[in-house]
Amino acid sequence: MKKEIWIGGMTVDLDRLSKGFNVLLPFWVLFFAFLGYRFNFNFHFLTVILFFAAVVNFYFLFIQKRHTLLSNFGLMAQFRYFFESIGPELRQYLFLSDVEEKPFNRIERSEVYRKSKGVDDTFAFGSQLLFNQSEFKLRHSLFPVSRSVIQPFSLTFGEERGIKNTYTLKRPVIISAMSFGALGERAVRSLARGAKKAGILMNTGEGGYPKYHLLEGCHLIFQMGTAKFGVRKDDFTLDDNKLRKLAFLPQVKMIEIKVSQGAKPGKGGLLPKEKISKEISELRGVPMGEDVISPSFHVECTNLNKLVHFIKRVQSISELPVGIKLCIGREDEFRELILELKKEDIFPDYITIDGAEGGTGAAPKTFMDDVGVPIFVALPMVNRILNEEGVRNKLKLMAAGKLINSGRQFMAFCMGADAIYTARGFMMALGCIQALQCNRNTCPVGITTHDEHLQRGLDIELKSERVLSYMKSLEHEHVELLQALAKKSISELSILDLYTEKGLS
Ligand SMILES: Cc1cc2nc3c(=O)[nH]c(=O)nc-3n(C[C@H](O)[C@H](O)[C@H](O)COP(=O)(O)O)c2cc1C
Repeated sequence: MKKEIWIGGMTVDLDRLSKGFNVLLPFWVLFFAFLGYRFNFNFHFLTVILFFAAVVNFYFLFIQKRHTLLSNFGLMAQFRYFFESIGPELRQYLFLSDVEEKPFNRIERSEVYRKSKGVDDTFAFGSQLLFNQSEFKLRHSLFPVSRSVIQPFSLTFGEERGIKNTYTLKRPVIISAMSFGALGERAVRSLARGAKKAGILMNTGEGGYPKYHLLEGCHLIFQMGTAKFGVRKDDFTLDDNKLRKLAFLPQVKMIEIKVSQGAKPGKGGLLPKEKISKEISELRGVPMGEDVISPSFHVECTNLNKLVHFIKRVQSISELPVGIKLCIGREDEFRELILELKKEDIFPDYITIDGAEGGTGAAPKTFMDDVGVPIFVALPMVNRILNEEGVRNKLKLMAAGKLINSGRQFMAFCMGADAIYTARGFMMALGCIQALQCNRNTCPVGITTHDEHLQRGLDIELKSERVLSYMKSLEHEHVELLQALAKKSISELSILDLYTEKGLS
């Protein structure tokens, strides 16, 4: 809603328009009541209609909590719902088809919305995907297995090194890194509360001390970006004591060193100045009024050997499982990294591969569009290299990159992933409408903004239930897919369970 539109050469600020409407509505009621009383009784018809509208508007703004847009903008937001409700028809006859919107088409998004609201998840008539262009399909069996043989998911990080503080994951999907900064307080708390209810793990993102993540009691992966917010010295090097203290928090179960991110590989994180509140500037230790740009690499890690020993250092300080997150660029460089790990006999406890199609709070367009290898190319390649070098059993492999539904998640399992990360899947569970304004502090549904007015409609309790419901629906489908593929557990899936026209790298 906080958006400008052109009408007949005039710019209209929709946010102001709705605020003006909300303030003026009660006055209009009084105005027409006065006209009806003083001049002509017929004015009372308008008084009654406007009075009714004012009551409904009050209910939307101050009482109901289910719809963020209505809480933030009142009756005016109904226009959005109205156009959204006739959107499929408009698109079908005039504009885009249901599979054309980007980055997530309407079908993909509505699947997550339905899962998070726990409503009927079945569709009719047939798939709307273009089968001649689809890359992968799962291979089902002639003899599906019964539900009773399906084994619960379990994955223990750190067992390869035999450390004391191993962490066992009980659900295969993790909330991917999104910092407080990229997300507002209420979004972080909704996700964290949902994670606690669903028994899933949540990554803090690179936003420094995870104040709001900790508040809700869920288990966390603390992410250390290249700027090392929360655990750094002034020169961007690691402050061992700060990391030790953080790793000692009972909720922090693992540490992730972010080497690169799919949406902006080879570039450091970016937090636009519009999103730097006083609190964020304190939590990150950065000034207000300037964009915060993280270095493009960890200053300690100027070559492979130094990177490997930095992993070891973080493992020793934290005494926790430690992983690295990266987007694949060059295959030969990744193999060299694995060879270096082998040579030094130092292994991270997991590697996360973030596909080039991954999301971000803010990044230059060319990095989003043109740099990095997509997940379904990178993941089988990484798995193959780990196997060829004989180190696949030394670490866990995680994957991210539009893996928002159970089908794509299973494809990633088949390609070698042990667990899945998704960021935007969980954002949609919170009600993200893909307004594409995460970098402007103007998110109309209060998720990627610090504007209190816009966050007001995001009801933490209700949204945490949506997170729970989304996760439950995914798990339900995981079980059904395992049955259809005749597998007892996710760990049994392999590349042989995947059909592809193209072949894998
Ligand atoms: C709003 C937003 C903020 C993000 N912040 C971070 C971050 O702090 N650190 C990071 O490694 N990745 C960050 N990411 C990337 C995600 O963690 C994830 O790797 C990527 O979006 C792919 O998952 P998805 O396709 O399911 O969203 C962010 C993504 C989004 C959408």
